This record gives sequence, C-alpha cells and structure tokens, in this order.
Amino acid sequence: MSDAKMNILVIGSGGREHALAWKLRQSELCDKLFVLPGNPGMKNVAELVTNVDATDNAAVVRFARDNAVGLVVVGPEAPLVAGLADECRAAGLKVFGPTKAAAQLEGSKAFAKNLMKKYNIPTARYEIFNDAGRARAYVRQTGAPIVVKADGLAAGKGVVVAATVDEAVAAIDGIMTTPGAKIVVEEFMNGEEASLLAFTDGETIVPMVAAQDHKRIFDGDKGANTGGMGAYAPAPVMTAALIDETAKKILEPTIAAMKKEGMPYSGCLYAGLMITDDGVKVVEFNCRFGDPETQVVVPLLNDDLAKIMLACADGTLGAYGQINWRENESAACVVIASAGYPGAYEKNKVITGLPEAYERGCMVFQAGTKELNGELVTDGGRVLAVVALDENLAQAVKLAYGGVGEIDFAGAYYRKDIAHRALPR
Ligand code: AMP
Ligand code: GLY
Repeated sequence: MSDAKMNILVIGSGGREHALAWKLRQSELCDKLFVLPGNPGMKNVAELVTNVDATDNAAVVRFARDNAVGLVVVGPEAPLVAGLADECRAAGLKVFGPTKAAAQLEGSKAFAKNLMKKYNIPTARYEIFNDAGRARAYVRQTGAPIVVKADGLAAGKGVVVAATVDEAVAAIDGIMTTPGAKIVVEEFMNGEEASLLAFTDGETIVPMVAAQDHKRIFDGDKGANTGGMGAYAPAPVMTAALIDETAKKILEPTIAAMKKEGMPYSGCLYAGLMITDDGVKVVEFNCRFGDPETQVVVPLLNDDLAKIMLACADGTLGAYGQINWRENESAACVVIASAGYPGAYEKNKVITGLPEAYERGCMVFQAGTKELNGELVTDGGRVLAVVALDENLAQAVKLAYGGVGEIDFAGAYYRKDIAHRALPR
C-alpha cells in the first residue's frame, strides 16, 4: 500500500526547523510543506506562513485545519510547554511532539528530577528548595563544586555550575528574586557530555545517532552558555555499548515512567547526558529536537522523516521497522553568530557568501535571518549553521570551515574548535 500524500506544517523559525523542513520536503508523504513562521532560508523548501501568530495555539490549529494539514511538527519547547500539541490533538490533528503534561520533562527541572528519582533513572543527586535560606544552608553544608538551576524554562540561561560556595549562594539569590521561584541544587557531575535524541510514540523508543554540541561561546569550551555554537555526529564518545546502556537505563525507563504516570510522552526525547566514571547519567531532558544537534543528526538520516514522525504521532513506531542512517558518515556544524551573542548584539547586517559555501558542498541552515530591501540580513544571535558531511569527521569539519570562510557579515563570530574532543579519537 502506498501512503497518501499529505500537507505538513512545521512550527518554528530556527536552524533546527530549517533542517527539519529540508528533510521533510524530501519525504514521499509530503505534499505541501508549511513553516510557521519560518525564515528566508526555508523558502526553497516550504511555504512560509507569516500571517498567523505562532504563539496563538488556537490560530495555529485553525490554520492547520483550514489547510488540510496531515501532520503538525512542533520544533521549539515553548509551544509544547504551552500545550500546542494538546490543542492539535483535541482538534483531530496528528502532531509530532509531547503534550503539555509530558513536556514538563523539560519545562520543570523539579518534575524531571523527581520522576528520575522515583523510577531510579541515573542522574545527579539533588534537593529542591523554594526558600533561599534553606538552599544557602544546604550549599554551605555540601560544599562546591555544585550546580544551581532555576526550575522553569530559561533558554539555557537558568543553570550555574558554581566552583565555589559563594558563587552558588549568589546564583541562589539571583534566582530567588521572583516570588514562587523554585531551585534545584544538584551534585556536580564530572565527565564528558553527549546528546542522545530518540524518536518515541509513547511506547517504543528508537535512539538517533548520538551528537555532541558546544554550549559555551568561546573556544576551549570557555565563557557563557549559549544555545549551541556547533555540533557533530555521530559522537565517537557514545559507543554502541553506551548507547545501549542509555536506551536501557534512561530512555526506556523514562518513557515507561511517563506512561505509568498517566502522561504518555511522544515525539522527540532529547537526553542531555554526562558520561561519568559511574556510568551514563542524565544532565537534562528536552522535549524536542536539539539545536544545533538537529542540523547534524537529520542530514545523517537515511530514511523518511515524515513517515517516522507520523508513526510517532500514530503510536505505531514499534511496527515501523529499522530506522536507517548513513553508514560511515559524519556531520559537522559550525554556527555563525552575531558579535556580542549571547549578550546584546546588533541586527540587519548584510550576509554574503552563501552561494560560495554551497559551491564547496556545504549546507547552510538559517536561524536568525530576515530579508530587508531584497537582501539577506542578520536578525538574531545565532544566524547560520554551516553543515558538511564526509566519511571522515576531520574532513567534514574542514569542509564546514571552508564554507564558513566564504560567508561574511559585519561582526560574524564563530568558534574555531568544533569537534575538538572527537578529533583526537
Ligand atoms: P542544563 O540546562 O541542565 O543542560 O545545564 C546546562 C549545562 O550545565 C550542561 O550542559 C552542563 O554543561 C552543565 N551542567 C548541568 N548540570 C550539571 C551537573 N549536575 N554537573 C555538571 N555540569 C552540569
Ligand atoms: N543544543 C542544546 C539544546 O538544544 O538544548
């Protein structure tokens, strides 16, 4: 039986959504592809929907119904945490992404930590506080290094890895300025980090290729945390044995736990991991694809993304069969950001060199871009993700940097050491 074609709607406007849209466009199932709101980079693969407010769930649902959308793919966490998937389902739409209740795995660190504790899923030891005095006393008693996290969504900015007790106390006082704030204080875990994303329909879980991203702004993993300055996949540190351990001890128990708690989780489950001497442990869960992990994982998928996502939405992932990846290929991604990011930065800088980067065999996924007077200009902190594939990771990195070298805008900044942990391996 050949599957009927359908219209697909992607929600979001970043590099992650560009990569998802690019891949969905190649699906046998895909008839019309809409991206809401999208960015200029996606125009080649999709129709941009700019007259609907992406934060208005009812308006998004109306658009999907009016345009006979057969699958809604939600990119970012905010609409998931705000219940967009619930509203889609209530309107009879198929959706890739967890419900509001299930999205708490990312939306509330306290929820995630309590769930992991209850179901023996390996993670850092922790305490939750809603009182600054008690949190301070706990930190003084435990000592540093220690990690202080704000409870809610904070776009990567709510975490302080404190080297000293004073730093931890300052972080606690910083978070506790808002009434009702909750803090998670947790054990510092030593090790290398990796991201393992998985497809799930609430029952079955299928890990993707493992990735590593670079969260800090400066080379050598120094400076402030960002959304992610680059990534590569597969991450050699995640051996087949470690992926298996993660699936059995973390991903499968988490999905089973969510089902048992009456909030089955479907969509993409992103496990941020620390590989410690004591085994793989969870740093955080995200309820959506990673950015920029998606820009390296999705190009390595040698399968039909829309079919997989539909199986996740339908609860039929167990019957899907094996998901195929490009054998023996690696992908590298270098993010080009605006000067000043993750702090304040200027916009509207003219971007040049994209055709030359394509010429070198790179893909360029756009994030913070827009069109101004017919020119492509910067419009955000992370502007572009330059991606290259090769059988050899070092060569993929070199190719990606070749593309980066062609691209320019005033104040363009990028890290020069993407994949530095993997290359010596
Ligand atoms: P999160 O937003 O929870 O992923 O935290 C952001 C970053 O802080 C992580 O990618 C880690 O580099 C670091 N981090 C978070 N929790 C811990 C921990 N318990 N031990 C060591 N580093 C951590
Ligand atoms: N790259 C980190 C994230 O997507 O949360």
